[in-house]
Amino acid sequence: MTPSAHETLVAPLDSAAAATERANAATVLSPQFYTTDYDAMDRIDVSPVRAEWDAMMKEYEGDNNHDHFKRTEDFAAEIKELDPVLKQEFLDFLVTSVTSEYSGCVLYNEIRQRVNNPDIKQLMTYLTRDESRHANFINASLKDYGLAVDLKGLQKTKPYKYFSPKFIFYAVYLSEKIGYARYITIFRQLETHPEKRFHPIFKWFERWCNDEFRHGESFALIMRANPHLLRGLNTWWIRFFLTAVYATMFVRDHTRPLLHQAMGLDSDEYDYQVFRITTEISKQVFPVLLDTDSPRYRAGLSRMHALAERAMRAKKEGGLVNALRRGACAVGIAATFVQLLLLPTRPNALPANMRVAPAW
Ligand SMILES: [Fe+2]
Ligand SMILES: [Fe+2]
Repeated sequence: MTPSAHETLVAPLDSAAAATERANAATVLSPQFYTTDYDAMDRIDVSPVRAEWDAMMKEYEGDNNHDHFKRTEDFAAEIKELDPVLKQEFLDFLVTSVTSEYSGCVLYNEIRQRVNNPDIKQLMTYLTRDESRHANFINASLKDYGLAVDLKGLQKTKPYKYFSPKFIFYAVYLSEKIGYARYITIFRQLETHPEKRFHPIFKWFERWCNDEFRHGESFALIMRANPHLLRGLNTWWIRFFLTAVYATMFVRDHTRPLLHQAMGLDSDEYDYQVFRITTEISKQVFPVLLDTDSPRYRAGLSRMHALAERAMRAKKEGGLVNALRRGACAVGIAATFVQLLLLPTRPNALPANMRVAPAW
């Protein structure tokens, strides 16, 4: 696909105000901010996994990335002029990423301040430390383009969504592990094709994604310590979150085909590789696995993407007929989501060893 052949359906990011507005958006595709039941969070007991928990806390304490999120002297010199469409997709990627990193930072910090439970408080202190580094590092790259997002302002203006602790665990575990899988897939691709590394930030992804991996491990341990979260009706909630998170990621990534193409990746293949890695890791905790490589699953996601793109185009064009079209698309998306949710899954017996190594 050439830049001109790709139809841009999102407004251009041409000012810091536009970047903050994009980060503030409360659409289905944009990262959300969350609140939870802090008293219930306070009651979480990790004593059934004490040995694993203490070992993990030692890793956080060691802070092996304390010196990582600093720019090297040659960083600025490596920033190149980009094709305008690719530049927009890259900026959109940075804004989505900074919002997502900061969403974690805000949630973890809020939990840290409101609980007395020493285990949870200690974990949240480490998570806040890491996510704040990640968000600030991305924002520095947006600043190079004059597009730094007003993160503090976002905390006051962006709508918050309430999730009970159980849903926070499913959603955050997945987003941390997917974060790892996304960053490592990009890093490995650019490691073998350095000529396609069009921005220096990608060099930071390897050590960065190990933070995300460890964050995911923490939520895996919390869920393994509370096995009622992983059986019965909750199996359906896990399926729901897996389907929602995967479908959102697929649609959002397909709005930026040139970003992947510039790295020598295909959006489809990139996403399915990320799903495969995430599924493999999630065997540590989830009792069901989605068969993301099955033809029916892939057809469902493609349909979801086509409908979402039709809806975005109708929104851009405006008018009454397009409003009706958007309604029809929304019905189609909901029906496709239900079909995906009902596709057969593979059962998974949880392993005795709860930890996984970041081996990708
Ligand atoms: Fe992060
Ligand atoms: Fe994280």
